[in-house]
Amino acid sequence: MDRTIKFCDVTLRDGEQTPGVHFTPSQKLDIAKRLRRMGIDIIEAGFPASSAGDFDAVSAVAQDMADDDACTVSALARMTTGDIDAALSAIETAKRKRLHVFIATSDIHLENKLHMTREQVLARIYQCVTYAKSKNIADEIEFSAEDATRTDLGFLCQAVECAVNAGASIINIPDTVGYTTPDEFTDILRAIRQAVKGRYELSVHCHNDLGLAAANSIAAVQAGATQIECTINGLGERAGNAPFEEVVMALTVRHDVIGAFHRIHTREITETSRLVASISGIPISPNKAVVGANAFSHASGIHQHGVMNARTTYEIMDPASIGLNSADTIVLGKLSGRHAFAERVKAMGYSLTPEGIDAAFTRFKEIADKKSVITDEDVRAIVGEYLDSLEGRYYLSTFQIQSGNHIKAMALVTLKVTVGDSEPYEVTEAAPGEGPIDAAFNAIKRIAGAENTVLISYGITAVTEGTDALGEARVRLKAEDNSVYTGRGVSTDVIKASIKAYLNAVNKWTNANKKTKD
Ligand code: KIV
Ligand code: ZN
Repeated sequence: MDRTIKFCDVTLRDGEQTPGVHFTPSQKLDIAKRLRRMGIDIIEAGFPASSAGDFDAVSAVAQDMADDDACTVSALARMTTGDIDAALSAIETAKRKRLHVFIATSDIHLENKLHMTREQVLARIYQCVTYAKSKNIADEIEFSAEDATRTDLGFLCQAVECAVNAGASIINIPDTVGYTTPDEFTDILRAIRQAVKGRYELSVHCHNDLGLAAANSIAAVQAGATQIECTINGLGERAGNAPFEEVVMALTVRHDVIGAFHRIHTREITETSRLVASISGIPISPNKAVVGANAFSHASGIHQHGVMNARTTYEIMDPASIGLNSADTIVLGKLSGRHAFAERVKAMGYSLTPEGIDAAFTRFKEIADKKSVITDEDVRAIVGEYLDSLEGRYYLSTFQIQSGNHIKAMALVTLKVTVGDSEPYEVTEAAPGEGPIDAAFNAIKRIAGAENTVLISYGITAVTEGTDALGEARVRLKAEDNSVYTGRGVSTDVIKASIKAYLNAVNKWTNANKKTKD
């Protein structure tokens, strides 16, 4: 029988657990608006007890959805009254509210993390779901059995039964460590349905450690699940979560075998994916299914010939069905004014303050002077860089580099330093390196006292085609405590783009360590 699947997007929560990703409340709002426009049924906006900033972000999303009865706001909580109170309070103003409580159920987690017995876990589930229900704030309660796929099946069924008896109406079975396989997952879900009677919706939440998250999600639908949790571009802890775009397009393209409907406006997929890539700073790999740059490119002559005769020879989806063609517009040029720029930025899903528009527009003008045509991709790179640069302590003033094939590269970098409200001052450092970029990074490290951070990745890509293309540099830094900071910089000059990217990551590292450095 045909069913309608609900999508619960967890980009703002699990997606934010991607190393180096942090969303501000206003960034979460921008992404949430896009998700709603795309027809997402439930947005998991965050984990309010995890930090004051996340509490504010979830509250901001909830407030923005005060009149929205098409989309539910969900907040995550551990099984403690403190977490539950924080989550309920953060979502209170939304029209439709969901509380999502979780506790681990596998013996591995019980022994090594929770130090609880199975009986204690069952008691905690019953107490906490009952407590949350008694507050009468959330319209519905979702229960997740963390590490469900490595949990003893009999105990998993007991935990689910306990949650259902206490009042949970959505039962989520997470494959927390991306361990299960489609057939095994199907058996687990069918066994739960068989063992636990009552009215509840079955949901799944698959991680991608073995690259099976999308396949496992689809298998779950075939086994009776009616909610899928996933993230845009597959962001998430470790190898990420089930990528939304892959799951929704599998349901769409293979409706003939899966037989399930959804309410997603698939034409919004490309814009949403690009907005999330830009805000998160995590680029989409070219060979990524559905939204990668190569997903509709045909390199071999035989394929090109086939597609020219009939698109369906080598394409199983129409690019227009994911909004690909409409997202590739040439929009602005050097004569475009602030108003046209601001309108375009807004239409692309960003809500910048007037100061933000001014700063991004200044960058746009600098770039438009060097580059005849500015595409949406260029605008995304400019705005993305601006968003990343907020609250920076170090700004690039000047740099000079000496480099050649017979001399060691040497960089002289001057940064403007702003600490709190005090007057900015300039600091200059010189440093050698294994090439111009390494030398510049070493000079910045000296100025910022970041000698103990390690550059774990560096890359530069052309945002668009042509010799005047904007270069977008991305770096990832690892700090001593293993936390990761990403940075990006754009410029038509690749060395400048690289320095800005590095500075951006150093600024994030400095912000996180401010208390000890001031
Ligand atoms: O992966 C997981 O188990 C989770 C739960 C909190 C649902 O993210
Ligand atoms: Zn997860």
